[in-house]
Amino acid sequence: MPRLPAVALLVTALLAVPLTASAAPATVTNGTQFTDTSGNVVHAHGGGMLKVGAYYYWFGENRNADNTFKAVSVYRSADLKTWEFRNNVLTPSSAAELGRANIERPKVVYNSSTGQFVMWMHKENGKDYSEARAAVATSSTVDGKYTWRGSFRPLGQHMSRDITLFKDDDGTAYMVSAARENADLNLYRLTADYTGVSTLVRTLWRGSSREAPAVFKRNGVYFMVTSGATYWNPNQQKYATATSMTGTWSGLANVGDSTGYRSQTAYVVPVQGTQTTSYLYLGDRWAGAWNRPVNESQYVWLPLKFPTPRTVTMSWSQRISVDTTTGVVQGL
Ligand code: GAL
Repeated sequence: MPRLPAVALLVTALLAVPLTASAAPATVTNGTQFTDTSGNVVHAHGGGMLKVGAYYYWFGENRNADNTFKAVSVYRSADLKTWEFRNNVLTPSSAAELGRANIERPKVVYNSSTGQFVMWMHKENGKDYSEARAAVATSSTVDGKYTWRGSFRPLGQHMSRDITLFKDDDGTAYMVSAARENADLNLYRLTADYTGVSTLVRTLWRGSSREAPAVFKRNGVYFMVTSGATYWNPNQQKYATATSMTGTWSGLANVGDSTGYRSQTAYVVPVQGTQTTSYLYLGDRWAGAWNRPVNESQYVWLPLKFPTPRTVTMSWSQRISVDTTTGVVQGL
């Protein structure tokens, strides 16, 4: 090999350093509004996250001052701290019935058979909360405009308010939503293209008024975290487990303090890294609790801990450290 001048060696060495989008551990401060890379407040309330390539895409509610639908906004980040606004993927001009509406808790999963990103959300008419419908929109790119596919009651009959999606490892997707005036949580299996409901798998904890569901899977155990139904006011978050989505779910047990540290479950995102996979609780501290518009709400993000394979705990930290490279998420 010919002798290279020192500067060439230096350049060679620098080029050899892998250029990744991720960074050192980031610190997230709880009970705050987050800002994006342009300095604007992040509006992804009641949201969900989806990892595509190196980025976590965060979808959520962006509302007008009167709380009606303004957009489903999407942001992306490699470190879960630095949020780049990408797009308003659904807006009032996306469909006639969105001209005046309430859109809540949008969640997105990717269907590898159809190549479509599929969004489910809760839809109301913007005047009252009596529609209780689920709605679907699809896109061929994660942060492109989503095409409205309509709103409906699952299987033509069930009321459907707070909602979440879960895609299992075998590609089967499930939707969980609050039914019967929020008395029940219904667990549905979606059709193969994820745009419709195939069957009602079961009604969970009948009459126990749980809402704000979030599902994740850890070492073969399915966890569902939910809140009680107290409007914008925070309450005790609870969880249950199962060994299959369609199997029997355990009873509900408490997680976190009596008010979820003044937050309501939105989503649980797995942070998979080189050392470990952490499970990060994403909660909303709704500004409605102090009579302010949704867009003034704050975020509460806390790492979940697992004392045993089927139990989960959550404790308060004003600040947390998130390392998306190693997967380590911890309270500071
Ligand atoms: C909560 C629900 C939120 C929102 C709010 C106000 O119970 O979890 O998503 O619907 O009520 O209607």
